[in-house]
Amino acid sequence: MPATLPSQKRRIFDSPIKQNKTPPQRKRIPKWVDVDDEDERIGQRKRQNGSLKHAPQAHSTPPRKKARTSGPPLPSPAKAGIQEHRKQLPIAKGKDALVQEIRENDVTVLLGETGSGKTTQVPQYLLEAGFADSGMIGVTQPRKVAATELAARVSVEQGTPLGGLVGYGIRFDERSGPTTRVKYMTDGMLTRELLGDPLLSKYAVIIVDEAHERTLRTDLLLANLKRILRERNGKGNGKPQVNGKGKEREKERNPLKVVIMSATLDAEKFSQFFSNAKIIYVKGRQHPVKIFHAAQGQTDYVDAALRTFFQIHVDQPPGDVLIFLPGQEDIESLEKAIQLFAHQLPTGHDEVLTVPMYAALSGAQLHRTFAPTPRKTRKCILATNIAETSITIPGVRYVIDTGKVKEKRYLAGSTGGGFDTLLTRDINKSNAMQRAGRAGREGPGFCYRLYTEDAFLGMAASTEPEILRCSLAQAMLQLLCIGQDIQELDLMDMPDVDAISSALRTLFLLGALDSHRELTDLGRAMAALPLEPTHARAVLASKDLACTAEVLDIVSVLSANGALFLDATDKRAEIAEARRKFVHRAGDHLTILNTVRAYRAAGGADGENANGHVNGHDGEEEKVGRSARKEWARAHFVNERTLREASSIRDQLRLSCTRAGIDWRASCGEQEDPVLLSLAHGLAQNMALITPDGSFKQIMGQSVVKIHPSSSMADKKVPAIIYDELVYTNQIYARGVSSIQKSFFSSLGAFNRREA
Ligand code: CDP
Ligand code: MG
Repeated sequence: MPATLPSQKRRIFDSPIKQNKTPPQRKRIPKWVDVDDEDERIGQRKRQNGSLKHAPQAHSTPPRKKARTSGPPLPSPAKAGIQEHRKQLPIAKGKDALVQEIRENDVTVLLGETGSGKTTQVPQYLLEAGFADSGMIGVTQPRKVAATELAARVSVEQGTPLGGLVGYGIRFDERSGPTTRVKYMTDGMLTRELLGDPLLSKYAVIIVDEAHERTLRTDLLLANLKRILRERNGKGNGKPQVNGKGKEREKERNPLKVVIMSATLDAEKFSQFFSNAKIIYVKGRQHPVKIFHAAQGQTDYVDAALRTFFQIHVDQPPGDVLIFLPGQEDIESLEKAIQLFAHQLPTGHDEVLTVPMYAALSGAQLHRTFAPTPRKTRKCILATNIAETSITIPGVRYVIDTGKVKEKRYLAGSTGGGFDTLLTRDINKSNAMQRAGRAGREGPGFCYRLYTEDAFLGMAASTEPEILRCSLAQAMLQLLCIGQDIQELDLMDMPDVDAISSALRTLFLLGALDSHRELTDLGRAMAALPLEPTHARAVLASKDLACTAEVLDIVSVLSANGALFLDATDKRAEIAEARRKFVHRAGDHLTILNTVRAYRAAGGADGENANGHVNGHDGEEEKVGRSARKEWARAHFVNERTLREASSIRDQLRLSCTRAGIDWRASCGEQEDPVLLSLAHGLAQNMALITPDGSFKQIMGQSVVKIHPSSSMADKKVPAIIYDELVYTNQIYARGVSSIQKSFFSSLGAFNRREA
């Protein structure tokens, strides 16, 4: 165990010039370079309005005994104060004017700093002004956690139970009902609704929030909103659309209001897109954030974050710390390191409570982030960029920004062998500003950037729209189902032709399109399942192969966010031994199936009855079952959260199957081939054959791939494999790998179609 505290080790800010002047232990925090001009930019709007000077805030943070800053003391979270809090938000002053503008214009672009009250207040203003009388108010978010948290918050502000007046909808989880008037949802959910309701006629208002993030779904939504406006309001401009014929009668009856909300300064572009829509600016209430840059670049950002955290913890007054890291792996390793060192702190220091925060965590788990920090404790939130916008984490006063983010990027191969890559890369200026801003939500804060000021200045201004860097297959399938061709859509940015042809080819190989690029019945059936096309195809194939029960078990786990298997470098042997019983020799997919089955069996009986419901007739028995399953998962280093999430996904998929006329009870028992063959139908593009040197060569592409070390197939030499995805690090790895028989090829339509 390391004996010295990281904060006593070399500090980040020790630039080559300053290095030897002071012994490291004695250095206080600002070995960072101060950046006053930017400090100014972030802090300049600090309490522009005198009346906001001591604005009470209805946070759920308990008042702290000791004043945390030189600023105003933190207020108490009195419930009655919530209405007062609403009135004090910067946006409240402009409420009437804002409502008036939205009333007068079809499209309004609302630009405002984070914390001004856009996301929580605007829907309520519109609700209270009667906009929801003729339809719902839909608010889209790029992230699930934001949709659920915001719905919860706004329900509290409205004093109604969640899922009543205010609800949410995210994939595989819906909390809304007949009385719901304000619905927070992911942009993906709303684009999905277009399938059944191309005019989104249920909605009177659509608020596209965090539009600056320019997710693929947001872009598709914006293009469709433009069309819907024309059809429902009889206005707007842009190219004529293919569908919508015969819908003319629905015009005028139910006009739509669109509000585009964004936190950064790119409002112009949205305004231009919507025929120079009106832009409204709301001032924020951001406290000053003092920014420090590392004096020199850091090669190991996890270690740098660790040392910086302890410098803050040991030297600085109370206040929670939010650390931005690129992904789950870094979060887990830093969390472990922080816990390890925190235990070695001499007495007298506050406790350290670490809270991880990344998209793969379940809702309940993410909820911990928002819980009040216990007394004499410093909370340290380790987050990906999911904490960058949209949500408010109370208590945070220090931000450590590693300057890294994981970005998904699709590499479209001209031969159709494209793949998604998830690479850690540098953030852009807009990310950096947002991250720093998180420290100034409740009072003056501090942001430690683990990169130099020059690095900051050299960053790109903002993120490239996702539509320019992602696989388009699923999106194009959905568009085709509503009669839209992506190339004819009026998009803010047109995707690359290579990416479009790569997606067309994928859809063709999956049988979703025929050789005339027309949608097939199979394609329609695929789009009806809330799954990626590859998984949807596998489920549909399982119908003919009578193994839907097994395929749903596997696909549910693959659709869950979290990893199924926990990993700990120091326990590799122990883990391998624990899992030996259910690791399947055919590879990862059947290993998943075995795991799901073993977990279920661990709950007693079979864990489930024939209807798929967990045995619930005896409360006591059920409780015993639950704790047995939990214990089983722990003993086998299996992530129970993922299994629980998968189980709820599976319940949803069973409903979808029933609707689609697929018998989800159909099971092939212990047979392997039907299951693997079903999966292979979906993964036809993800197949590779062994080469003499033990690596694999794609069948429908040119890449040479290796099996990822985390796979149960790692180092195995089998003739042919299918895989879930390719990841590119220093070389191309296949992840989620199963061994298949070469004879499968002849039964796969894709191979016949390939020649077409
Ligand atoms: O969307 P915008 O960033 O403009 O602000 P918002 O999300 O509507 O939040 C406005 C304010 O409400 C925040 O600054 C917090 O003070 C408060 N809030 C909160 O305390 N808890 C939440 N879950 C959401 C908002
Ligand atoms: Mg917001």
